[in-house]
Amino acid sequence: MSEPNNNMVAQPHPDCELALQTLAMPKDTSANGDIFGGWLVSQMDLAAGIMSKQITLGRSVTVAIETVTFLKPVSVGATVSCYCRVLKRGRSSVHIDVEVWTSMRTIGDIVKVAAGVFVFVAIAEQGKPRPIPE
Ligand SMILES: CC(C)(COP(=O)(O)OP(=O)(O)OC[C@H]1O[C@@H](n2cnc3c(N)ncnc32)[C@H](O)[C@@H]1OP(=O)(O)O)[C@@H](O)C(=O)NCCC(=O)NCCS
Repeated sequence: MSEPNNNMVAQPHPDCELALQTLAMPKDTSANGDIFGGWLVSQMDLAAGIMSKQITLGRSVTVAIETVTFLKPVSVGATVSCYCRVLKRGRSSVHIDVEVWTSMRTIGDIVKVAAGVFVFVAIAEQGKPRPIPE
C-alpha cells in the first residue's frame, strides 16, 4: 500500500484500479456525525466484489475480510473512491487489496482513509468453490 513520503503527493498504489466511487451521505453517519465504519466496509466489499467478478469471470462471494484499518474520519459530502488490486490468486480464491481515498473538492486533495484485504471465492451454481479461469 502506498504511503505519503516527503516529496511526493500521496496517491493510491500504482497497481490499483478505481473500482467504485460514491458520495458519503448524511444517512450513512455514526453517532459522532462522521461516516459510519460499517458503511465504508460495505463499499470496500462492493469494490472488491467488482474486481473479483473481473478475475473470476462469474459468481464469487466474500469468504473473509482479513484486515480493515480506518486511518482518518470521513465527512459527509466527501467523494469516496475505492481502489483495488489483486494481491494473491489461488485455485478458487483471490485476495484483493482495497484502498479508500476521499476528496472534498477535486482529485488533488485526496486523503487515504481506510485500507483492507478482502478474500473472494469463485463459486459454481450450487455455491461450491470452482477454479478461477486462467
Ligand atoms: C466461500 C465458500 C463457498 C467456501 O467454501 P469452503 O467449503 O470453505 O471452500 P474450501 O475450503 O474448498 O476453500 C475454497 C477457497 O477459499 C479459501 N478460504 C476458505 N476459507 C477462507 C478464509 N477464512 N480465509 C481466506 N481464504 C479462505 C481456501 O483457502 C480456498 O482457496 P483456494 O481454492 O484458492 O486454495 C463457503 O465458505 C461459503 O459459502 N461461505 C459464505 C460466503 C458468503 O455468503 N459470503 C457473503 C457474506 S454474507
